[in-house]
Amino acid sequence: MDNNKLLTRRNTLKLCLPALVGMGTAIGANFIGELEPTLALDNPKRSSSLSGNKSLKERAAAKGIIFGSAVRYNDLTSSPGYAKLIARECGILVPEWELKWVCGDKALRPNARDFDFKPADWIADFGRKNKILLRGHTLVWHDSLPKWFEEQANAKNAELLLRTHIKTVMGHYAGKVHSWDVVNEALGWWDRRPDGLRNTPWLKFLGKDYIDLSFRLAAEADPNALLTYNEFGLDYNTPEDEAKRQAVLKLLRYLKSKGTPIHALGIQAHLSAEISTFSQQKFRKFLGEVASLGLKIMITELDVADNKLPLDLRKRDRTVARVYEDYLSAALDEKAVIMVTTWGLSDRYTWLSEFAPRKDRAAVRPLPFDRNLQPKLAWNAIARAFDRAPKR
Ligand code: G3I
Repeated sequence: MDNNKLLTRRNTLKLCLPALVGMGTAIGANFIGELEPTLALDNPKRSSSLSGNKSLKERAAAKGIIFGSAVRYNDLTSSPGYAKLIARECGILVPEWELKWVCGDKALRPNARDFDFKPADWIADFGRKNKILLRGHTLVWHDSLPKWFEEQANAKNAELLLRTHIKTVMGHYAGKVHSWDVVNEALGWWDRRPDGLRNTPWLKFLGKDYIDLSFRLAAEADPNALLTYNEFGLDYNTPEDEAKRQAVLKLLRYLKSKGTPIHALGIQAHLSAEISTFSQQKFRKFLGEVASLGLKIMITELDVADNKLPLDLRKRDRTVARVYEDYLSAALDEKAVIMVTTWGLSDRYTWLSEFAPRKDRAAVRPLPFDRNLQPKLAWNAIARAFDRAPKR
């Protein structure tokens, strides 16, 4: 993505926020109260019909929304067919492993001094060649920190480690990244802190304002990128998710009151097909409250785990598809939602195979394309949600 397009995007964001905020609230008010509060589980009669043969990227773009997926260097380089599918369907890519401090067989930070950008550079180059935007994930997280960090980081050197990491990594991609997950999963009501923050090494070493500091360093390192706070567990009508939503709103209000340069909330949206306590009304209300803070919203890691569903493949695919369509129809009604990325595009490469396997050992089917890279009902559901979304 060249520089002036990025500048346009950031400035557009600055200019139109007040107007959008007004619209966002108005839309939120009209929308709330008209919808059934729960997700339909398997309903064979519900239509999955679709018109045209446009890709998800094209259907989203027609409404001013960016659609894409998490990708891994290993998968793109080992399967030309998958690379082709990603290029056709995605308007944005997010490296699933390659921009973390360490993850899988990749180490952006092999030691305290060095940075290995090669795998992430390959993905960035793949995106550039295919005119696909890039998003960065993630700079500051408690997970996927290398052994040397656990052994060497302390209250004395943590700020320098943070500054060096953000400056070097974001500087390496300055002007080439649509948005960054600057801080990931900083909240944890289970740690019972009054501010709702999770006890992470960063909090331990730097105190609660490590979040504000991270965003300020990020804004300096790449003034063009949209800076995002990314979180999970914000989706369902459960006490835990409600607590998380309130904690996120409290954090966002605190950061906005400090003038922290934050532009968006990332909602991971790792959904589970067997859970029916999704209230479109409650979720829409939350999105409206985030938008009223002048923030954009990105659905950053969307997938629908089917490991708890009965084995029947057609029933599983129908239920997963309904969850996608009901969730996205609520989310996309909020015009502050500007991007949707799934956490992988094909069941062949989902993290859920390993992290949420089925007891019957059948292959999981959480994503829009199956293991043979064929579209599933979930693809139709996402396409329909984009086709019916209001234009941004
Ligand atoms: O491939 C290696 C294997 O060779 C090694 O023996 C094994 C033991 O260390 O690790 C394997 O790599 C694992 C990799 O997944 C592949 O399974 C890593 O340890 C493990 O950390 C990695 O997990 C990733 C996880 O983030 C932690 O970074 C997942 O792939 C990835 O999908 C997941 O994504 C996160 C987002 O970044 C943040 N939101 C939640 C989301 C899901 O947890």
